[in-house]
Amino acid sequence: MDPNDIAVRYDQVARWWQSQHQDSPYGIAQLEQAIKFTSKRHSALDLECGSSGRFINILSKHGFQAEGLDISGAMINLAKHLHPEITFYREDICCWIPPKPYSFISAWDSTFHLPLNKQEPVMKKLCDALEPNGVLLFTCGGGHTISEISGAFQGQGFEYSTLGVDAFLEILTKNHCTCRHLEYDQYPENHVYIIAQRT
Ligand SMILES: C[S@@+](CC[C@H](N)C(=O)[O-])C[C@H]1O[C@@H](n2cnc3c(N)ncnc32)[C@H](O)[C@@H]1O
Repeated sequence: MDPNDIAVRYDQVARWWQSQHQDSPYGIAQLEQAIKFTSKRHSALDLECGSSGRFINILSKHGFQAEGLDISGAMINLAKHLHPEITFYREDICCWIPPKPYSFISAWDSTFHLPLNKQEPVMKKLCDALEPNGVLLFTCGGGHTISEISGAFQGQGFEYSTLGVDAFLEILTKNHCTCRHLEYDQYPENHVYIIAQRT
């Protein structure tokens, strides 16, 4: 699915997303675990941050200068309203050029919406945007094969893609990052989170 079509769909659910996720513990233990690997706490980016700012709250609490990025204008406007002090980018991650190195990047349940042919270039972009020893937390579909699936919530249809876990690990290695943790955290759901660190 084209990222602009994804944006239109997330615009429709942005308010619902905020009410559901503003105080949600979903992914927070994994975020806290990833933060433990950091040695420096300069800038942090919550990629495809949505409207709740829940990761941004935790990153700020840990002393990072947190920023958010999302392609949906409605998501970004709601997040800005909650966090007026934070820099938000309304951008498609496929086209965005990181303006600085980051100590930490989170991409929780977000890059799985990318078209298959954008998965590797975006992962490379994220690895390149880390400062030395910088940490990346991201989720992906598990298994060892490329796959695409469709799903729906709140009346909107969405598409998801994965390269398979082995391919993501290879991309990390190729781009000077090493895997620190990999877990099927919702087993038997095919949901994986990976913590990687720039070498
Ligand atoms: C499932 S939501 C997750 C939001 C947030 N990470 C969270 O866990 O609360 C996926 C988000 O990714 C954003 N997104 C999808 N494709 C994107 C792209 N190409 N560039 C930037 N953001 C994108 C959507 O607008 C949406 O806010």
